[in-house]
Amino acid sequence: MCGIVGYIGKKEAFNILIDALKKLEYRGYDSAGIAVWNKGKIEVIRQKGKVDELKELALSKGIKGTMGIAHTRWATHGIPSERNAHPHRAKDIVVVHNGIIENYMELKQRLKKEGHKFTSDTDTEVIPHLISNYLEKGHDFIDAVRLAACELKGSYAIGVIREKDRTMIAAKKESPLIVGVIDGESIIASDIPAVLDMTNKIIFLEDNDIAIFNETGFKILDIEGNTVERTIHTIKWTGAMAQKGGYKHFMLKEIFEQPIAITDTLIGRVKEDKGEIELDDLKLPDLRKIKKIWMVACGTSYHACLIGKYMFESNLKIPVEVDIASEFRYRDPIINKEHMLILVSQSGETADTIAAMKEGKNKNAYVLSICNVLGSTLARDAHGVIFTHAGPEIGVASTKAFTTQITVLFMLMLFAGKRLGLFNTRQLQEKIGELRKIPHKIQEVLNNAENIEEMARKYMTYKDFLYIGRGINYPSVMEGALKLKEISYIHAEAYAAGEMKHGPIALIDENFPVVVLSPIDTTYQKTCSNIEEVLARRGKVLLFTDTTEHEMAQRVESTFVMPKTIYELQPIISAIPLQLLAYYIANLLGTDVDQPRNLAKSVTVE
Ligand code: M6R
Repeated sequence: MCGIVGYIGKKEAFNILIDALKKLEYRGYDSAGIAVWNKGKIEVIRQKGKVDELKELALSKGIKGTMGIAHTRWATHGIPSERNAHPHRAKDIVVVHNGIIENYMELKQRLKKEGHKFTSDTDTEVIPHLISNYLEKGHDFIDAVRLAACELKGSYAIGVIREKDRTMIAAKKESPLIVGVIDGESIIASDIPAVLDMTNKIIFLEDNDIAIFNETGFKILDIEGNTVERTIHTIKWTGAMAQKGGYKHFMLKEIFEQPIAITDTLIGRVKEDKGEIELDDLKLPDLRKIKKIWMVACGTSYHACLIGKYMFESNLKIPVEVDIASEFRYRDPIINKEHMLILVSQSGETADTIAAMKEGKNKNAYVLSICNVLGSTLARDAHGVIFTHAGPEIGVASTKAFTTQITVLFMLMLFAGKRLGLFNTRQLQEKIGELRKIPHKIQEVLNNAENIEEMARKYMTYKDFLYIGRGINYPSVMEGALKLKEISYIHAEAYAAGEMKHGPIALIDENFPVVVLSPIDTTYQKTCSNIEEVLARRGKVLLFTDTTEHEMAQRVESTFVMPKTIYELQPIISAIPLQLLAYYIANLLGTDVDQPRNLAKSVTVE
């Protein structure tokens, strides 16, 4: 996730900005840049790579000055490269940005017609051009930033400086931005760790705030230009706590980031009013000619594929075969040019998934990847790519990557369904409407996290768990069991509930808790019968459902009720309590949650 910082005061801005950027490195980034103001001139230095390399380069150029902005970029629009790195400049306006500008194409076309020349592939570059455009029309600096902000759709936290003005301006909407309050100087940043060395007095800017900083201090305006007051908070976190946003582990932070990760993945792509999905200029082959879809991945991403199969087959009526990437190529799969291969990967660098891509390409299939990391091998080398905008995932256990992968698969299914003429506008509007409610519903689950923590306390000492579910809930419980085993080291296995009688029921006794995912859907009654079978063997049931009236709720030991959604989106909601259960058990057991033993974040060897 991008990090922005800005400073104005009497000290050398360069050292302060570099130190602050280094404190934001934990967020993950692929390029970095800095702009420093000195006597009416702004020097911009940026490059692909690490902050230390940027520092070397900037030092070699003797950069100097007492005001500046800087940035670490996690690519969303345009590959990681010097030309796409921030800060971006238009005439004497220089900007750093965190977020996604939904309407940048529209703005870019308009500005191009007015003579503006663009040099990057980013959405951000429209911001300095837009501000510059307002200056050309006679507005002052503050008004130009404010009017530009009014035109931006999507999310942004920006820092802006101008050669002609010793003033720094910051603005925010749906992306975090804070102000560190110090006598005679000001610092802005996208996160608290960046400023903690200088101050623990913090203002959290609110959506549509415009903050203006100069020699004498600062003021904050609302988007209409009226002065507003914001509370100054005193932060008591240590640096390490601050990197995790106050959470004990990155995994917990990432679980709680899911509403925003999904919102970011939807931004600019879902048009509820028109019943349309736009997927980043994706050029798919003629879908009427696609006879079969393969979905291939590893681990959690494989579970997302299994969920995709349920969505695609029931809606698109195209056969879908899901494969584990490490198995795929060795069985010489029968693939041809009428097939489409969908590869799902958070990192885009998983060796077996890359090998599966080669297998598909060699056999002339159309290869589409769904990745979280821009510029990764799978993103670069597939015929088409759709990005999950989950932001960097630092905890080894995949959480927000998983739910954003399901989000993308659902959008892709709607996109394909529309092309195939399978949905009318009203049906699409309804499904998109449900999708848009998902971040809010996840938040509802997160608001009840302490109930799951309570459950974790009750079951943390058991040595084995069984997870069961039917239909689309089956891959969800596979993912739930994977989460528990990888971070708590407790044995957990998942079964399709209907398979219990074919073997695993032999394991059930009072020492074998069974996690059951049982929302109200077509297999509800059948799953109730499976719960009966567990109870008859004195098994302990942890029930996860979407109704307060589940007929087994009074008879099982523990129940958690989730918000309702449509069948295809249920796995996103169900993922959250199962992730939390695994997390809280592991945390209570004191394991290394973010870096579990024997595991790596990205498996780049076969
Ligand atoms: O980067 P990828 O999505 O390709 O990674 C695949 C798996 O290695 C990954 O999902 C792994 O299973 C996670 N640790 C699960 O939490």
